[in-house]
Amino acid sequence: MKREQWGSRAGFILAAVGSAIGLGNIWRFPYMAYENGGGAFFIPYLFAMLTAGIPFMIMEFSLGHKLRGAAPRAFSKLGVKYEWLGWFQVFIAAVIAVYYVAVIGWAISYLGFSFSQSWGSDTNAYFFSEYLKLGENSPSKLGDLQFHIAIPMAIAWAVTFAAIFTGVKGGIERANKIMMPLLFVMVIALIARVIFLPGAVDGINYLFQPDFSKIMDAKVWSAAYGQIFFTLSVGFAIMVAYSSYLPEKSDINNNAFMTVLINCGFSITAGVLIFGVLGYMAQEQAKPLTEVVSAGVGLAFVTIPAAINLLPAPYILGPLFFLALVVAGLSSHISILEAVTSAIIDKLHWSRKKAASVVCGVGFVVSMAFATNGGLLLLDLVDYFINNIALLSSCLVELVIIAWLLRVSDIRDYVNERSEITIGKWFEVCIRYLSPLMLAVILGTNLLNTAS
Ligand code: PFF
Ligand code: NA
Repeated sequence: MKREQWGSRAGFILAAVGSAIGLGNIWRFPYMAYENGGGAFFIPYLFAMLTAGIPFMIMEFSLGHKLRGAAPRAFSKLGVKYEWLGWFQVFIAAVIAVYYVAVIGWAISYLGFSFSQSWGSDTNAYFFSEYLKLGENSPSKLGDLQFHIAIPMAIAWAVTFAAIFTGVKGGIERANKIMMPLLFVMVIALIARVIFLPGAVDGINYLFQPDFSKIMDAKVWSAAYGQIFFTLSVGFAIMVAYSSYLPEKSDINNNAFMTVLINCGFSITAGVLIFGVLGYMAQEQAKPLTEVVSAGVGLAFVTIPAAINLLPAPYILGPLFFLALVVAGLSSHISILEAVTSAIIDKLHWSRKKAASVVCGVGFVVSMAFATNGGLLLLDLVDYFINNIALLSSCLVELVIIAWLLRVSDIRDYVNERSEITIGKWFEVCIRYLSPLMLAVILGTNLLNTAS
């Protein structure tokens, strides 16, 4: 059977960008930057983007393009004994898929609430007690299914399933061709309004004001590398699967640069939006900015709703924000599930329809664990493990296998032959030495911190 293909170059880039831009950009990047020194975070972040993000993207695109398979098949073509790495990555992707969808579910609920700001004035209590039911966390209740969370999650699954079931070009590509332009328009509309609010510029300055005392802190570097891999969707079988559907004539280097730069540009734009809103909120409440910001999960579901309460025309800006979050999340969720589905199609030779049905069906059932009273506790645990350990070790092993057992210069020749942009020797230096070294140090530090 002939492998499916993307319909156009723009279709592929939109799908890759759709995977890259996600909850990680709108909800995670701003608080990562904030917690790790504001402007000073950009130095490790840009360093990681240039020396790890771009080389990794080029490498994964070339693997998929050359080997014509999802991660397990691609790695097994390099050597049968490396197939497990592909399955390990597919496994990580599957774990991410089931908790990522929970956050999309919350965003769908909040999209509904945002029309009338039904979260009220105490957005903290609303999110944790009313919505997540965290107050009712007695052990006997931990497993209680919350239908008001399960239903929006089911909606998210239905969209993902429809796209994957329909196929690469008619489903995934088409979904991204609608979702991505919509997302850009919404974010631009939001920024255009927010930037003129009083205090917005102070908030934005705060984000860009460097705290250089943090730059020698290993944690900041760890956060920057973790964020780059998460945000670019590299290291978990996703970009390998997507690039396995590229037509033979494709400019890999160019596609990789576009994907990385659009994604990271979007992150900075989202940072400006969020901090503009926070600056306005600080001004309205006559509080310092540090007192209005909450970290992590809370940023999108506690602080932003509180800020929306204060905005002019909240019934327009609120839904725009949460719809942007939902759209960004869904396009990424589709890519995570496609990584799993395509691996199964390759291995078991099932039809796409059967593979998509089984993968999404099982994923849906497992994800219901996050719709229980214990959901948030579980999510924090899984998220910590994925970001601090699984993701970095998967990337490190991939680098070691590719860079030390194969010839990196062959990859460079392969992509340069097919590209208008020629990449230099730096690519090999990054893949062979710099990135493995940085990843090993960061992973080692994280393991020690986890153990203690
Ligand atoms: N890159 C996307 C984001 O930043 O939200 C989504 C994503 C895909 C996250 C794959 C994690 C992942 F493993
Ligand atoms: Na991203």
